Formats: sequence, structure tokens, C-alpha cells
Amino acid sequence: MTRARRVRGYLAPRCVGPIGGTTTLADCMVALRYLLSRQELVEGPAIAEYEAEFARIAGARYACSFWAGRVGLYALLLGLGIGRDDEVLLQVPTHVVVANAIRYTGARPVYVDCTLESYNIDLAEAERRITPNTRVLLLQHTFGNPVDLDAALELASRHNLVVIEDCVHALGATYRGRPVGSFGRAAFFSTEETKTISSTMGGIVTTDDPGLAARLIAFRNGCAAPTASQTIRYLVKFIAYHLLTKPSLHRFTRAIYELGGKRHPLPRATSHDELRGERPANYEQRLSNAQAALALRQLRRLPSNIERRRHVAAAYGARLSEIGYRVPRAADAAEPAFVRYPIWVEDRPHAIRAARPRVLLGNWFTSVLEEAASPEHGAYEAGSCPRAEAAAQHLVNLPTHALIDDSDIDAIVSSLDGLDGLQPAL
Ligand SMILES: Cc1ncc(COP(=O)(O)O)c(C=O)c1O
Repeated sequence: MTRARRVRGYLAPRCVGPIGGTTTLADCMVALRYLLSRQELVEGPAIAEYEAEFARIAGARYACSFWAGRVGLYALLLGLGIGRDDEVLLQVPTHVVVANAIRYTGARPVYVDCTLESYNIDLAEAERRITPNTRVLLLQHTFGNPVDLDAALELASRHNLVVIEDCVHALGATYRGRPVGSFGRAAFFSTEETKTISSTMGGIVTTDDPGLAARLIAFRNGCAAPTASQTIRYLVKFIAYHLLTKPSLHRFTRAIYELGGKRHPLPRATSHDELRGERPANYEQRLSNAQAALALRQLRRLPSNIERRRHVAAAYGARLSEIGYRVPRAADAAEPAFVRYPIWVEDRPHAIRAARPRVLLGNWFTSVLEEAASPEHGAYEAGSCPRAEAAAQHLVNLPTHALIDDSDIDAIVSSLDGLDGLQPAL
């Protein structure tokens, strides 16, 4: 190591967080230009351009953007005619906003346990929960690891269920060489700041079905335009996160962020109403033009983003299995694109402490319905999905983004070496 690097390392010690690396300084300059000019902030041509490029990359005929992935799911369910008395099968753990989108249509979420090999839906358990009212099988490619789609599609066709893919974690993942999201009737993705690419908030739905696409577009056209002030706050957060996640600054910025606690001024992804399972005001909103432009720039760099994530995940897989961890299993035909790499540890707070301050490990999922004030708000019955409940106590997730270098991988693996990572038989 050169003297200059040693001095820099001393003054600004390296520290990486669970997110970062997808945005560039040039993206921030584009965000700044929108902020300063206020031209085409909310409406503009980037939305259609982004949707066309997204459809191409996702292997679909149509794509329709929204303010968030959750609204895309809601629009999809309405477009499929799902409502009162219908049942939607979905796995836990998931995010509370997924259950909310189902509940807001009047339908009932029916929770299915995950497997501990992949943290994806347990299809045998899903089959046991099918009733005459079951209409939809929602397949979440958790952490970016594709569901066994051959088995899932066979189950759905046997029971005449509509398949929707939750690809929120899985942009760039493929199955038999085809992008996930192109297997079911429709899929939804997210570009919220913790995902594979970031527009601070954002969601997009894809489908090949022209009738469904027309209903989605009609719904979207009826949604409110985002306000200029909200868009400005998202753009400011976009630039702030680009700077805050820099490994040379993250240690300090993280400390300031945590000191601010819940009082920090940056906009939040999920409102208090949503955390309690209630429907917030301004739920039905479109994506702004400026955010579409930022997502489009990152979409064009997706291959290098995914290549890096695959490299990092493969290194974790090889190194952690060598020291006795059970690493997530991919289905035979699946090529995952891990947005984060999940690892089971016996003592999660201890593992997170062991990796700090060099690396801040993620702790998705901390609940079967992530972030819910209580899973009861999503009508989840305690004890009904024991593996998901255990996963929500024991998972840490390792960053896979482009800021992670080989020395970070070494640091993470050494911090986990010697800790108990054995999964119980559940
Ligand atoms: C698995 C999963 N699906 C859906 C969502 C919702 O996405 P969005 O925040 O874009 O509404 C999340 C949010 O983190 C998620 O983790």
C-alpha cells in the first residue's frame, strides 16, 4: 500500500453499507440539472423512453411505470379483476406494502412459508393453502434468487391460477437464460433506493398481455402526477445517498444519520399509515420524468452492475461454504442476481457488531412482513409460517453492490468466521 493510500485510509477509514454503487457522479449532475432548471421535472419524454427500454430488457412487450412497485402490484391486481373474496397466495417473509396492495383491493393475502434453502415460497405448502377462492400465485424472487419457475408454473396451471412475479429484488436475474418477470402473466419491479438500480422511489410493471397493458395504462393515466416538491426531495435524496454511501465518508455520514434518528429530513419510502396496514393518501401516483431519466441511465449500465453483483455473490458463496455456512441454493435453471446475499446466523446482533465498523450488514427481514408495525396489521396469524418467522430473526444480508471490493469480501468473511451459522431443521 502506498503512503498516500495509508494516510487517506487513516483520515477517512473505509466503511461500506448495504447500498450504493449503482449511481455515478454523472447521474448526480443530471439530477442537479433537473433541480436547477425545473424543466421537465415531473412530465417529459424520459418516462416513455424508460418504459420502452425497461420492457426490452425485461423481455416483455409492455412496461408501465408508477411512483412505487407496490402501486404497480395494486394496479395489476385491479387490472386482473381481483377483489373482494379473492385469495392471493404469497410468501413470507415479504414487505408489508405487498400485503397492503392485496388488501387494498379487498382481496385476502394467504401467507405461505418459505424454504430455508432459498427463502423463496414453499410450493408444496402453497398447494395445501389453495381454496376455491384462490386466484393468484404471487412469486417473489427473494433477494434476487429466482423461484423454481418450472415447478411453480406447473402448479399454477394445474389449479388455474394467475402468476404474478414480484421481481423487486431480482432485476437482472434469469431463468433458463430468460429474464425473470417474463414467465408469469405480469411482473412488477422497484427502483427504490435499496434495490438493484435507484431512482430513490419508483416501480414498473411488465406484461405481454395487450388487454392487461391497456388497463394498466388507463389506471396509470388516472393516477395523480407527483408534485414538483416531492420530486425535488427525491432528487436531493438521490444525490445525498450517492455521497453518503461513499466508502471514505460512510462511517461519518452513517453516524450523523443515526444520530438524527427518525428526525432526519429525507423522504421515507413507507408512510406510517402503510406500516399499520392502512391506505395512505396519494397512493395512486405516477413516476416523475426526472426519476425516469435517472433510472434509464442506470438501466443502460445494468450488465456491469449485475456482473459485479454476481462476482461478489460467487465469492461469498465459495468462501462462506468453505467455513461451514449453508449458502442459498439456486434452482437448477436459475441464474440469480443477488441484490443482497442472505446468510443465516445464530446471533444476528453479534454478527452485525462483528462486521462493523468496516461493513454495515443488512438485516432484511426483521419481520415476516418487513417494517409492519405488527404482522397482525397484514392479518398474518402468528405461528402460521415458522420458517419465515425464524428467518426474520436470523438472516443477515451481505452487500453485493459495485462499491464492494475484494478487501471488503475478506473483511466480511473473516468477521463471520467462527460464528455459529447452523440452521435448525424446521
Ligand atoms: C419483496 C418486495 N416486494 C415489493 C416491495 C415494494 O417495492 P416498492 O418499495 O417499490 O413499493 C418491496 C420493498 O422493499 C419488497 O422488498
